[in-house]
Amino acid sequence: MNSTLTKIEIWPYCDLDRAGVVALWNEAFADPRAHNLPDLVITRKMAVQRGLFFVALVDGRVVGTTMAGYDGVRGWLHRVAVSKSYRRQGIGRSLVEHAVRALKAMGCAKVNLQVRADHAEAEAFYASLGFGVEDRVSMGLTLKENV
Ligand SMILES: CC(C)(COP(=O)(O)OP(=O)(O)OC[C@H]1O[C@@H](n2cnc3c(N)ncnc32)[C@H](O)[C@@H]1OP(=O)(O)O)[C@@H](O)C(=O)NCCC(=O)NCCS
Repeated sequence: MNSTLTKIEIWPYCDLDRAGVVALWNEAFADPRAHNLPDLVITRKMAVQRGLFFVALVDGRVVGTTMAGYDGVRGWLHRVAVSKSYRRQGIGRSLVEHAVRALKAMGCAKVNLQVRADHAEAEAFYASLGFGVEDRVSMGLTLKENV
């Protein structure tokens, strides 16, 4: 775990972290679509592979998150976020590496993620961790917009 400037700990999410995670996501992500509302995303993740949802804590306070999923073929990363005041200290890197190790331990051989096409900073972040842009078209099908 990298802790260049700040002592951080990475733990599986527990419900005591909920308010901190919601506040962080409201700061880090601007996505008003109902299926991306923080409370809903947390509740859904707690129902499926809950052990693949991690928080970074400083003095017990949530400063970062990542979620992963594994379908038996591919692993996916979601919701990688670090509080603005804690960025560029290696916390995002530590979170991604932690989640990747957890996926690898499950037998996962490849990890995918999606970045918005106009989000150059996130692309640079993932590139620095070894992720490469692949020649694919990302497609999605929304199954329900709300609970
Ligand atoms: C992307 C994000 C998670 C990075 O978290 P972080 O803790 O600041 O990242 P790290 O300190 O671990 O950075 C590791 C490396 O990634 C690269 N990097 C990180 N942020 C970067 C940025 N804004 N621009 C360019 N490169 C960046 C750098 O190479 C960095 O190493 P360096 O600081 O030694 O130069 C954070 O900026 C964030 O929460 N953004 C908002 C949410 C988001 O966009 N999430 C990702 C999309 S799903």
